[in-house]
Amino acid sequence: MRVKATEENIKLAGKIIKEGGLVAFPTETVYGLGANALNPYAVAKIFEVKKRPTFDPLIVHISKIEWLEKLTTQVDEKALKLIEKFWPGPLTLVLPKSNIVPDIVTAGLPTVAIRMPSHNVALALIENAETPISAPSANPFGYISPTTADHVERMLGDKIDLILDGGKCPIGIESTVLSLIDEEPKILRPGGLPVEEIEKIIGKVKIQPSSEKILSPGQLKKHYSPKTPVRIFKSLDELSEINETENVGILLFKKNELKIKAKHIEVLSENGDLIEAAANLFSALHRLDDSGVSVIYAQAVTETGLGLAIMDRLRKASAPAEN
Ligand code: TXA
Ligand code: MG
Repeated sequence: MRVKATEENIKLAGKIIKEGGLVAFPTETVYGLGANALNPYAVAKIFEVKKRPTFDPLIVHISKIEWLEKLTTQVDEKALKLIEKFWPGPLTLVLPKSNIVPDIVTAGLPTVAIRMPSHNVALALIENAETPISAPSANPFGYISPTTADHVERMLGDKIDLILDGGKCPIGIESTVLSLIDEEPKILRPGGLPVEEIEKIIGKVKIQPSSEKILSPGQLKKHYSPKTPVRIFKSLDELSEINETENVGILLFKKNELKIKAKHIEVLSENGDLIEAAANLFSALHRLDDSGVSVIYAQAVTETGLGLAIMDRLRKASAPAEN
């Protein structure tokens, strides 16, 4: 059932979470599929509904800082500085886990990923549930993340107890995942908080390339992917080399005159603003995927600020299937 995120419905949603059910809810990044993070049976349902492999750990969402102490065994100086500056917000920190975090949440890892979302509905839901909420993006595993309640309803509507509709997610791309486990902080997934902002606070961080060895399945080479094949292009000239344009979809970073006639064109930001482009990326990919085109050509963006996260998602969407 999909309902508006009114106070009353958020209360109901909190009760569902408490009783071990699943609720999809808006955050500032994307919609999450939430369950009581301390109830392994409830969390198991997330994996089932998403068809997500259980080796892929979940992010635990909290509404107040007191939970951090309970969920972790160590929060160092760097973590504290980042929390002070960026929470609530699109930054997920990977820290050593405490015993109360069930293994299914962390896929058996000794670490736990935690974030405090900056979205009133998400925060109120966690408060009402009186427990941390583990929530991946509310989409089938590997598919494009949802940035509206409508996306969630179409992908998972019949499989979950409630969808809280809180409108469009303002950031539109998942949180940045930063591991503080080793001496050197490591970005496991670029996201809604630009790396440059993090480096201003704690100095140089390493960016972990997507690899075969999966530390964080956001690092899988193929992910965030429409069903339609995606190809990345750099200059508009490359488009004029396409022979059959009838059934082609094009994802443009900014408004441009095109010499070819495509079936479906999406423009992420009229003036080429990376923040606006990130906010529109997944919606545009959903529309392109639904438009019936046989291939999507996506324009590359510069990899600064949110451009790093946008290119990460486009590369993963365009990677060949691994099996
Ligand atoms: O913005 C977001 O982060 C959204 C909203 C709903 O909060 N959530 C989200 O969750 O994107 P999900 O499950 O789609 O992605 C979580 C990422 C995955 O790449 C996962 O592998 C990584 O975080 N992760 C979770 N726990 C981890 C851990 N202990 N160590 C390393 N990576 C971890
Ligand atoms: Mg996801």
